Amino acid sequence: MISMMLRDSYNRQIRDLRVSLTDRCNFRCFYCLPHGEPPIAPKEQMLSYEEIEYVCEIFVALGIEKIRLTGGEPMLRRDIETIIRKLARLKVSGLHDLALTTNGYYLPERAQGLKDAGLDRVTISLDSLKRDVFKRMTGVDVLDKVLAGITAAKEARLEPIKINAVIVRGHNEDEVADFAAFAREYNVKMRFIEFMPLDSGHEWSREDVVSGKEIRDRISERFPLVPLEVERGSETSSRYRFADGAPGEIGIIAPVTEPFCGACSRIRLTADGQIRTCLFSTVEHSLRDVVRSGASRDEIIEYIESVILKKEPRHFINDPGFVAPSRTMSFIGG
Ligand code: GTP
Ligand code: 5AD
Ligand code: SF4
Repeated sequence: MISMMLRDSYNRQIRDLRVSLTDRCNFRCFYCLPHGEPPIAPKEQMLSYEEIEYVCEIFVALGIEKIRLTGGEPMLRRDIETIIRKLARLKVSGLHDLALTTNGYYLPERAQGLKDAGLDRVTISLDSLKRDVFKRMTGVDVLDKVLAGITAAKEARLEPIKINAVIVRGHNEDEVADFAAFAREYNVKMRFIEFMPLDSGHEWSREDVVSGKEIRDRISERFPLVPLEVERGSETSSRYRFADGAPGEIGIIAPVTEPFCGACSRIRLTADGQIRTCLFSTVEHSLRDVVRSGASRDEIIEYIESVILKKEPRHFINDPGFVAPSRTMSFIGG
């Protein structure tokens, strides 16, 4: 069989699919969905597990090597282990990596079950190590539960474990070096993310962005860093190890001040079945409607290929007249 490949019109190969399983979340992170309950897609508009399995099988046949399940909070979707079991079967057809992004709340009880179902690894959001700041940033007072979730993920060997912190001025920039200490102690990959204009409150402002450079400087003052000698490829983060050889790793994701769109390999599928070719897309493409119209497998492939050709060259956050996408991160999935 000739293996197929998805290429966009800028010659970027698309290898990474991020599938949102739900737009619901049990947290209220202000940088993501601050203003009460967001509108939730009606159930009949959501892709079923059978539909997700079907389109993911096609995507893998087209050269997708990595699938990341996201949300909202993906563990709120009933019986997520079932879809993980189905997708893990794609490992024999070319899928290399099946990962999950979660807020960690359900991991203490369910990490082992995810591993048993065939999940490779998890990325857990953790925005503060201080109880009051955690509560202020996420809207929930559950820091201990998330820390227990990280421990459970380690015990279940859902590795490499990555921890995501969105750094926002006036909230947690003073904790950057403490997070680095946390990475050393827990032996995890700690990633610092610049605040992007994807919040439903549309309160993002450039002054709130703590730059990748500032983050690097704050860590280096306490723990000197050495860049990892690895090809960056389409990775979102620039990666560092500790100069003193301590365990753990630092990743800096700086989409605002150091954009990495030129090597982007990512597309997204929302919980209601829309393909988004960029985190900042202002248009979506309804794969759901195509699948539900009874299109043949070849017609679906043709549709996916035509959509990929429309992938945006880059985001326009730094251009005058930038318009934030109307859907927030809780719908798009990070
Ligand atoms: P892995 O390296 O496979 O673990 O995935 P990743 O680097 O894509 O990491 P992850 O999915 O944890 O994404 C981390 C964060 O980076 C997301 O929550 C977003 O904030 C940001 N991010 C991920 N992908 C993109 C992207 O394509 N564009 C931009 N601008 N930001 C992204
Ligand atoms: N800016 C940057 N990252 C964000 N995330 C959510 N909203 C934003 C934003 N406005 C990321 C967080 C979270 C993941 C699901 O999405 O890292 O861990
Ligand atoms: Fe890719 Fe769009 Fe993210 Fe740039 S902003 S890296 S083009 S998804």
